[in-house]
Amino acid sequence: MPDQFDVIVIGGGPGGYATALYGASAGLSVALVEKDKVGGTCLHRGCIPAKELLETAHVFRTVVESSTFGVQAGSPTIDWGAAMARKQKVVDAQWKGLESTIKGRKIEIVPGTGRFMGNGAVEVDGPDGTSTLQGANVVLAAGSVPRTIPGFDVDGRFVLTSDEVLSMSDLPTTAAVIGGGAIGCEFASTLADVGVKVTVLEALPKILPGVDTDVANVVARSFKKRGIEVRTGVRLTGHEPGDKTTKVQIEGSDPLEVERVIVSVGRRPLSESLGLDGTGVEVDERGFVKVGETCRTTVGGVWAVGDLIATPQLAHVGFAEAIVTIKDILGENPLPVAYDRVPWAIYCQPEVAFAGHSEESAREAGFDVVAAKHPYKANARAWIVNETDGLVKVIAEKGADGRAGRILGVHMVGPWVTEQLGQGYLAVNWEATVDEVAAFIQPHPTLSELFGETVLSMTGRSLHG
Ligand code: NAI
Repeated sequence: MPDQFDVIVIGGGPGGYATALYGASAGLSVALVEKDKVGGTCLHRGCIPAKELLETAHVFRTVVESSTFGVQAGSPTIDWGAAMARKQKVVDAQWKGLESTIKGRKIEIVPGTGRFMGNGAVEVDGPDGTSTLQGANVVLAAGSVPRTIPGFDVDGRFVLTSDEVLSMSDLPTTAAVIGGGAIGCEFASTLADVGVKVTVLEALPKILPGVDTDVANVVARSFKKRGIEVRTGVRLTGHEPGDKTTKVQIEGSDPLEVERVIVSVGRRPLSESLGLDGTGVEVDERGFVKVGETCRTTVGGVWAVGDLIATPQLAHVGFAEAIVTIKDILGENPLPVAYDRVPWAIYCQPEVAFAGHSEESAREAGFDVVAAKHPYKANARAWIVNETDGLVKVIAEKGADGRAGRILGVHMVGPWVTEQLGQGYLAVNWEATVDEVAAFIQPHPTLSELFGETVLSMTGRSLHG
């Protein structure tokens, strides 16, 4: 008799482990099948190590600028080995903590690669051979891997993806970052701040496509000021490795010679490892598992969450999908995730954070809009922390009286905005109006009062803004 569970989760990244944790907290018996370490891409090869290294860059920048504050610290140098050791310490602490929380909830971690066999059966190919588990419900959460492009095979020496960059043993002096999306901009920012000469090569006309143009422009200007070269509208045909450097071939221009090429052109779902052929679980042409509003696949009793499905590839979206899935399994008729209003957070310098419509997307969706933006240059705390690049932009629906009404989007770029987005996210998702939000008090002096000032100005009256 195979082991029986209420829920079998295949994949222990944020989508999978959150399903297991939330399910166990609701009293379900759960098995979590994982071929590597629980925590997945986010904890071991993504969000956590990338943000930890961005913090190294932040500390470096702070020391470089310390004389502005009257603190004479000389010229800092980077000990990359020590930086990587700290990154690993932070990752390992989170990993151990997660493992113990999982075990504390009596979730069975089953090591090995899980394949869905149909009818609630999951075959696990593990270190001690093959076993079969039986679940009343199965949740697929196999995640994603970095995409690559033709002509740039990952060799770990010249061509790297985020997987390799985050465990790089030494710092290059020059690097090309292919793709100016979230991952590309975070790596470009980290490396430039610790002294690497970085060129970002983006196929589209601007970096951070999909981000509000006013916001993306602030990042582009800051990159330029810090010596990061951004080349947009480029087409790359391959690279020619030499002894210590490689030449990136750019159509219509001279090759770019660099020590490392970092490919960050998106991530693809890892559905092929799940053995879905013939099970009835449908996969789209890009490899994403097809799901309905509450993450149900095309087979009854089988759900899919996280990067495996075609929703924003964000750990916290995986968490939200995990909760929806467990509630659906329990028959609680959950509200689907509002994908167009999830919080986005990009941790490059300056940081970017937003929820809801950008000005462009609100207009495209047919809204008559009122938008207001306020710069951090007008904020005392931004001067105090010496980070005045950036702005807060609020987009609201224009009412019949011509006044700003319901808040449709909040977009921020600047110091610690990933920590400030919370009230903007709530405003958008609570469908609050400008008048309602303007009535709330913001502590002074704070960075977050810029959001309050921006909303207040949309009532037609204002204080500082
Ligand atoms: P992305 O889809 O955000 O950006 C990829 C970029 O590469 C785009 O700007 C695209 O135009 C460009 N590109 C594609 N092919 C190209 C080519 N051949 N030559 C030049 N440029 C090319 O993907 P990214 O940055 O790799 O991130 C993957 C996923 O992880 C995304 O969904 C992202 O949102 C998520 N993520 C989110 C983070 C955050 O919110 N802080 C951090 C890291 C990743």
